[in-house]
Amino acid sequence: MPPIKLSPSVVSFVALLSFGVLAGCGGGGGSDAGSSGGGSGVTLTVPGSPTLVALDPGNTAIKVHYTAPTATGGSAITSYTASCAAGGTTRTGIGTTSPIDVTGLSNGTAYSCSIAATNVTGTSPSSAATSATPALPVVPAAPTIGAATPADKGASIAFTASLITGGSPITGYSVTCVSGTLSASATGSASPATVTGLANGLTYSCSVRAINAVGTGAASAGVNVVPNGAVATPAGVAEFTTLDFNALDNFASITLPAYYDGTVTPDDNTPANNAINNRTASLGRVLFNDRRLSVNDTISCASCHRQANGFSDPRQFSTGFSGTAFTTAHAMRLGNISYYRPGTMFWDKRAASVEIQATQPIQNAIEMGWDTAAGGMAALITKMNATTYYPDLFNFAFGSPTITEARIQQALAQFQRAMVSTGSKWDTGYATVFSATAPNRNLGADLPNFTAQENRGRTLYFTPPNQGGAGCAACHSAPTFALAPNSLSNGLDAGETRIFKSPSLKNMGVGGPFMHDGRFTTLEQVVEHYNSGVQAGPAVDNRLLRNGVPQRLNLSVADKAALAAFLRTLDDTALLTNPKFSSPMRK
Ligand code: HEC
Ligand code: HEC
Repeated sequence: MPPIKLSPSVVSFVALLSFGVLAGCGGGGGSDAGSSGGGSGVTLTVPGSPTLVALDPGNTAIKVHYTAPTATGGSAITSYTASCAAGGTTRTGIGTTSPIDVTGLSNGTAYSCSIAATNVTGTSPSSAATSATPALPVVPAAPTIGAATPADKGASIAFTASLITGGSPITGYSVTCVSGTLSASATGSASPATVTGLANGLTYSCSVRAINAVGTGAASAGVNVVPNGAVATPAGVAEFTTLDFNALDNFASITLPAYYDGTVTPDDNTPANNAINNRTASLGRVLFNDRRLSVNDTISCASCHRQANGFSDPRQFSTGFSGTAFTTAHAMRLGNISYYRPGTMFWDKRAASVEIQATQPIQNAIEMGWDTAAGGMAALITKMNATTYYPDLFNFAFGSPTITEARIQQALAQFQRAMVSTGSKWDTGYATVFSATAPNRNLGADLPNFTAQENRGRTLYFTPPNQGGAGCAACHSAPTFALAPNSLSNGLDAGETRIFKSPSLKNMGVGGPFMHDGRFTTLEQVVEHYNSGVQAGPAVDNRLLRNGVPQRLNLSVADKAALAAFLRTLDDTALLTNPKFSSPMRK
């Protein structure tokens, strides 16, 4: 049998010893693999150093946690010696299992502690040292969080206890799971901890704390879990709406076409704190379609933003709650509303975000009527609190039944941002020719599903005027057909000083009349405006000027018809008929 491998540092020590004596003792005491030979020629030595894992200081004592060395030196380890030194005084504790107590220390003094292993040949070098300060007991250190396993209205949370007890034995653990303002806690004596009373479907962050006689220690890091049992639809919600809490529509995971890539994401106005989730967007769907959001129960957002009309109003001006007063602008289409940089809501871009915009029609004296005289948002929230469905819907969406203006805004914004338009005839065709690396991303290519007239209109749309086109794409950008952020006035009126935005051109065919004041009733009139009607003025965009004066495109009759035909290929029947954007109200 070959000699046992020795590390160079112990060779000289071993050489001083008699092999025969060592072999006899090692063979007698050990079940250790290294000592199994037992015969002559076996070399025994001191063990390797143990590893110091943690120091757990307590009242005039320190518990030294360690793990055994892998090298026993050919003979079983008989004991471990923990040493703690401060100011020239060393105290030791001897034992055979971790942790080993070193007692008789002074509270408030920092001790440097290490651990060594002893076998029949002697004692190993000491481990690396760390220091700790004995003190009266304190609360335990935080456990290390492990995996979370969801259950029906509950979860099981695994964790590893900290070795730092705070100087007093850990008596139990408490686990707390939080989702928004909802939370539930439980206590237990060991991992895993089981917590109940959670709401199914919500994401909870759960953390664990250890408890000793002094109190409850700090929380571990959190682990997320979604309790996965069925969710009951509350009776009031079922009575007033078609929502099924167990079968929500998908608003959150919309699969976008490949050409909705990094070229459109810079324009996405979704704030980090209001990403779409199905619960909140479903609440937004109710809010958008509920006539009770007007002072006299007559008007909802959807009264003016009608799905069949691209979420616009076929009337030039919309009737407000009174039935006799009208808006002074045309109701805007809402498809692709997320692709406008912040600070561009409304025709004149006066609203800073989709969220902030959302409660302005509610408080508008003409539209929904909750102006100051009517008590404002506070009066509306009082009215909503008295319904049998809004508190439950807000609880479902936000984790607590509290209704606030900010939550109303978030829910409405999520629902509207989900109205992404990617189902038009143009989208279907463009998906087949799109290439991110082709010149102009192949926007200039003929589309196989288009008629010759539609392809001619498409060419005019995407070609600049100085190359024989109509130059529309310079402002109404594909693939969202939202207005480029830097667009100025399109010269509707001579001397115009104001700058207007345009909604995405998706669903123009059903979304007229056109322009902020709904002055044009047909797309042909719109095309004629750009062909021959652009007026000079301080705000007019120079993309609509040739040599400093308003452009005259001089399009032929056939080309004007082709351009209008192309605009109709942007109609998106899928968005206009998708049931998830329809009214969920039963009454
Ligand atoms: C009485 C009709 C009416 C009602 C009700 C109404 N709107 Fe509007 N909406 C309009 C009009 C008109 C505009 C354009 C107003 C302007 O720019 O001055 C508009 C503009 C918008 C815009 C701006 C779109 C853009 O691209 O800038 C959004 C978003 C919007 N409405 C959402 C809503 C929401 C949400 C509700 C319900 C809380 C609602 N509207 C209720 C008529 C209405
Ligand atoms: C310089 C930028 C610019 C160019 C180029 C441009 N537009 Fe516009 N477009 C606008 C602006 C700004 C508005 C909103 C004007 C308003 O309502 O006051 C608008 C509005 C529209 C509208 C009405 C939208 C609605 O919701 O009512 C249509 C349709 C339209 N443009 C089509 C076209 C076509 C077709 C072309 C090419 C012939 C074109 N635009 C070129 C800036 C531009």
